Amino acid sequence: MKEHKTGAIGWKEGKVWFLDQTRIPAEQRVVETNDPSVLAGAIRTLSIRGAPLIGIAAAYGVALDFISSPMSRREDLPSRLARVQALFASTRPTAVNLFWALERMRETAESFSGNIGNLGEVLLNEAVRIHEEDRLTCEQIGIHGAALISPGMSVLTHCNTGALATGGIGTAFGIIRTAWEKKVLRHVYVDETRPLLQGARLTAWELTQLGIPSTLITDSTAAFLMLQGRIQAVLVGADRIAANGDVANKVGTYGLAVTARYHAIPFYVAAPTSTIDSTMKSGKDIPIEVRDSAELLRQGERAIAPIGMEVYAPAFDVTPNELITAIITEYGVVSPPFGSHLPTRQSSLENFKK
Ligand code: MRU
Repeated sequence: MKEHKTGAIGWKEGKVWFLDQTRIPAEQRVVETNDPSVLAGAIRTLSIRGAPLIGIAAAYGVALDFISSPMSRREDLPSRLARVQALFASTRPTAVNLFWALERMRETAESFSGNIGNLGEVLLNEAVRIHEEDRLTCEQIGIHGAALISPGMSVLTHCNTGALATGGIGTAFGIIRTAWEKKVLRHVYVDETRPLLQGARLTAWELTQLGIPSTLITDSTAAFLMLQGRIQAVLVGADRIAANGDVANKVGTYGLAVTARYHAIPFYVAAPTSTIDSTMKSGKDIPIEVRDSAELLRQGERAIAPIGMEVYAPAFDVTPNELITAIITEYGVVSPPFGSHLPTRQSSLENFKK
């Protein structure tokens, strides 16, 4: 199998490599592994993170499992698949891209009728396809979303939705990048994104690398910037979009949507259709990951709150659809009412080619 090496994860010589995102911006450390449980652990600890990237990583993980220990008996397939799916499904609950990718890998495995010993290679091809589709998806989201940015606009973004979170240029970040390249975007304000600082560590790093004019703010500064008239649009990603258009995304997103509405600022959500979960009627059904209290009580070795203090640390929140101006997918811009207007995934690379 050829190398696949765009972005934050890839395949090389029988191994998966990934950037350890917990080290950025201090260090760009690449980890290589041929052990699916190392990959699952990396998702759990947020070395690999961001909804689309988690899905891509899980797909590579399933392929790795079948390549590192090839099957000899077809009748073992159901138990083998169940074991590797459970390994990845237990890592993080909210981003549906993970479960979407696992499902695609299961369908690929079950429909393969050739020599079972070759299944690993077939699964690797599918993982690379999922990766490549996401790259093309991001490009399309960038094009559709950048059309919403008028010359001279400054935008606010939250968390990290860029090349570190996806298989391509990013979702909300892909719009920022495309609008900047079109020379319509003026400035980007980046929320730190407490408590794990994906905005400060990762989005700020990506913006700096690309030379896009940007300013880092604490999460609590956003409302004041809006009051000052310095933000003309809010752009965020999503971890799961329910059938009615409610959006689960990094905690703090809901507060931004409420504040944007008060200031009459458009609030845009950008996500691939693999993030839309039509089985969930509304955001109330979306499982929300709750993080360990240590992430709020300590910064590294240093206590920043009384140890033992009760903590509530949801990783995500849900923004009701009525606060969302538009949802941007690879197929275009959808305005409210969402519901049946939200597109469903056409699972073919051909859909992305001009
Ligand atoms: O906890 P994280 O860092 O995985 O959370 C990521 C986000 O909330 C992103 O906004 C979302 O996954 C979209 S990434 C294109």
